[in-house]
Amino acid sequence: MTQITLTINGATQTLSVPPMKRLLDVLREDLALTGTKEGCGEGECGACAVLLDNGNGVELVNSCLIPALQANNTTITTIEGLAPALSSIPSPLSPIQQCFLEKGGAQCGICTPGMILATHHLLSKHPNPTLDEIKEGLAGNLCRCTGYMRIFESVQQAAQLTQHTTNP
Ligand code: FES
Ligand code: FES
Repeated sequence: MTQITLTINGATQTLSVPPMKRLLDVLREDLALTGTKEGCGEGECGACAVLLDNGNGVELVNSCLIPALQANNTTITTIEGLAPALSSIPSPLSPIQQCFLEKGGAQCGICTPGMILATHHLLSKHPNPTLDEIKEGLAGNLCRCTGYMRIFESVQQAAQLTQHTTNP
């Protein structure tokens, strides 16, 4: 076991975990943050995506590929942290979540937390993305339900909405 310190969704926590335990499992099992999903378990689908800052800027990463030790002293945002931390409208959902709900961008929901975090990351870099930029921004996130068009429309609506707010 090794001690790691993580700042997750604004709270700093120290945990004792096996050093090679997947960050995905640390989130789900040790921290009960089950919004982060497991799809493929091998870095191909993006269902487990979270935002991680190791001091060099925020990246969208697949938590199934990151050993706990590698996440030590990083700052992480999971889907649970998005709405209360970043929403600037009076809703339990973040603007992006609201748009996915309204546009039918979520069906079974397995891909949705990763899609929404990928969208947040995309809009932080490209507040008014083209369709090609949306496709590129979500290229690491697979969906077997929606056929993607409703997801792209959700992102476009979120981009319009968040141009009127300070954060997506
Ligand atoms: S579960 Fe991590 S990329 Fe698929
Ligand atoms: S909504 Fe089911 S995998 Fe995307």
